[in-house]
Amino acid sequence: WKEVNVYQIYPMSFKDSNGDGIGDIQGIISKLDYLKELGIDVIWLSPIYRSPNFDMGYDISDYCSLDPRYGSIDDMHQLLKAMKERGIKLLMDLVVNHTSHLHPWFLQSSSSKLSPKRDWYIWRPPRIDESGNRHPPNNWDAIWGGSAWEWDENTQEYYLHLYLKEQPDLNWENIEVRRAVHELMRWWLDKGVSGFRMDVINLISKPEGLPDEPLENAGFTVFPVSIPNGPRVHEFLREMNEEVISKYDAMTVGETPWTHDPAILARYVKPSSKELNMVFTFHHVDIDGGVENSWKPIPWKLSSYKQIINKWQTYMHEHEGWNSIFIENHDQGRSLSRFGNDSAEYRSISAKMLAVGQICQGGTIYVYQGEELGMANVPPSWGIEEYKDVATQSYWKAILEKRRENSENPDMSDILKDLRKKARDNARTPVQWDDSPHAGFTSENATPWMRVNDDYTQWNATQQMNDPNSVRFFWKRALAFRKAHPVLIHGSFRLISPSDERVFAIERQHGDVTAIIVINFSGINVNFSFPQDSKIPKGLKLQLSNYENTDETLENISPTLVNLRPYEARVYL
Ligand code: GLC
Ligand code: CA
Repeated sequence: WKEVNVYQIYPMSFKDSNGDGIGDIQGIISKLDYLKELGIDVIWLSPIYRSPNFDMGYDISDYCSLDPRYGSIDDMHQLLKAMKERGIKLLMDLVVNHTSHLHPWFLQSSSSKLSPKRDWYIWRPPRIDESGNRHPPNNWDAIWGGSAWEWDENTQEYYLHLYLKEQPDLNWENIEVRRAVHELMRWWLDKGVSGFRMDVINLISKPEGLPDEPLENAGFTVFPVSIPNGPRVHEFLREMNEEVISKYDAMTVGETPWTHDPAILARYVKPSSKELNMVFTFHHVDIDGGVENSWKPIPWKLSSYKQIINKWQTYMHEHEGWNSIFIENHDQGRSLSRFGNDSAEYRSISAKMLAVGQICQGGTIYVYQGEELGMANVPPSWGIEEYKDVATQSYWKAILEKRRENSENPDMSDILKDLRKKARDNARTPVQWDDSPHAGFTSENATPWMRVNDDYTQWNATQQMNDPNSVRFFWKRALAFRKAHPVLIHGSFRLISPSDERVFAIERQHGDVTAIIVINFSGINVNFSFPQDSKIPKGLKLQLSNYENTDETLENISPTLVNLRPYEARVYL
């Protein structure tokens, strides 16, 4: 699991096989050769379980059956067989911090205080103030706004939901809940899946007594401060490992947001902890979002970006930890439009530059669908109705309501502009397979569940498979290059010129191999000189570059000078 290339599939947008406008399992099967050719070893499949889809499948109502729109268990067996034939493994998305409010467990739990499943979720009586008014049990906000507590008329108590009210949190303190989770994990592992990506796994253990959030964070909470990494989370994960994971040689990656201290996360992934193989951290992709309002794009500095990467790279390397490398997923705007340059002139070269930025970091690499094609954010001409994500829509509605207090028809263009950078929808447009109607994602007469990006006639997989200068070709080369050079996966990590705002320069070392990586994140020519004291060994050779005709040796003349063109990225070994 350390050296594999992982590819994330967001099933609804990947490939539709039957013309209903929704991606499905047969669609995935039809693209396995494409993924094999790219050099993919493992697929992380976002949820395909039965779900009322309030949060696109991250609200599961049955863990052991599928949303029929994706296919049947039979299709799943076919997928696993087809993957096995190609030597590709499957990670399922394990969403067990919460279920859907329509899961039979929750239906039973909410049916009566005396239900045997009552304690499977987190129920609390109201707080009553001096005037006799009812209030939620504490001041916690849900991640996307509003109280994290929902009142249940029927049983006269509140239940906790850190996400939507349609996503009630499971009570992990209850051993029956943990056993039920272990059982469903075994069910999938027995079917032949090879592991799990674990959704917000650092939220499963809640702080004892559910105390209020610190006051400065109350009211408008952008992220929970006191809730992540609760007191029993390590115990729960160790137990899960002992009961399930260790018996199957399965691979695990935990999603662990809102944690700044690497020591806290290293504990999850140290081999001696026997918990998870690796975790996802988000500070690098949060860098262009506001602190008080993460939907609001803010200017970002390369020096800060480098500092974040450096922090996790060095800490994990020095403390037996392991990183997950990614810059895109289904919760993020496209990296090209945020950290590269999606103008016609620089799109291709900057997408390749970002690829180098990924493959040269230590850890296990994750590529998100369409990233290998340089897919971009949605175009400016799209209205809010094209954005389907519940998080986007509730953010929009909240602001609209507020502005309507002052004007009947408020100007919302600034918000739309923000969403064009940061909305999760940007990553959820259908994959662009070819230049036929709907980009070949679905059949010509179908209506795709989400609109295809307007640029598909020029930016699609078929076109790129036929062009040796394409982003897709480069990704394939870069992934193979990474595999061939263990220094990029396992090596130590040292930043060169940390405060340079244009160039990301790194030294990696493994055994007697040194890699020097220099990446120009800017759109201008830069003469980058290595600092006097950087002891770069002699005779390093240029081995990978996103420009043609760069075949120099990096001479050990101090200061060593490298002339970089816009968005040029080079790897010397
Ligand atoms: C994770 C998922 C995200 C989902 C949330 C709630 O962050 O990646 O898509 O909305 O958890 O399950
Ligand atoms: Ca379909």
